[in-house]
Amino acid sequence: MAEVVEYSTALMTEPDLRAIATEMGEPASQVAAPPGRAPLAAEDARMKMGEAIYLDRCMACHTRSGEGVPNMFPRLAGSQVVQQEGSETVLRVVLQGVRAAYTPHAPTSPAMPAFGWRLNDDQAAAVTTYIRNAWGNAAPAVASADAARMRGLLRDRP
Ligand code: HEC
Repeated sequence: MAEVVEYSTALMTEPDLRAIATEMGEPASQVAAPPGRAPLAAEDARMKMGEAIYLDRCMACHTRSGEGVPNMFPRLAGSQVVQQEGSETVLRVVLQGVRAAYTPHAPTSPAMPAFGWRLNDDQAAAVTTYIRNAWGNAAPAVASADAARMRGLLRDRP
């Protein structure tokens, strides 16, 4: 993906970008919790465990309130990616890490470290469950088995 950005989309002209934006409609990177969903209670054991891990491992970049740092660390509160029905993308980011693409406008290219080797399946599931249900977010809880399955996929196809 980084290559697509570095060698292609970052080089698009203003008219190209406008045409794509018109085609795609308004970006909805920040959304309220999907209607009909309620967040897990903060007292839920998975939320408590997830919060402890978040404060220890994630807060330094994504901040206590999940707001992140503009142009550096993405906002998790209100993130559509984080609140997707399926947890695959978020689990992959947490276990494998991710690097933003380099562009002339954003040359810093911040990266997210992999946590797969530092968190076991229970811990990865708990922290993922937490970010999906904190700060007004709401999305289905993530089970340890989901984390184990994603770990297996990444091992087979890194
Ligand atoms: C060293 C800083 C750092 C730490 C620590 C960190 N992250 Fe990240 N995280 C990032 C960066 C940078 C990105 C964006 C990378 C990109 O743009 O591709 C990111 C992206 C994400 C995303 C994708 C967000 C989206 O909307 O696309 C999620 C989810 C996430 N991090 C969760 C976590 C969790 C959970 C932890 C703790 C286990 C954590 N991060 C720890 C820096 C960090």
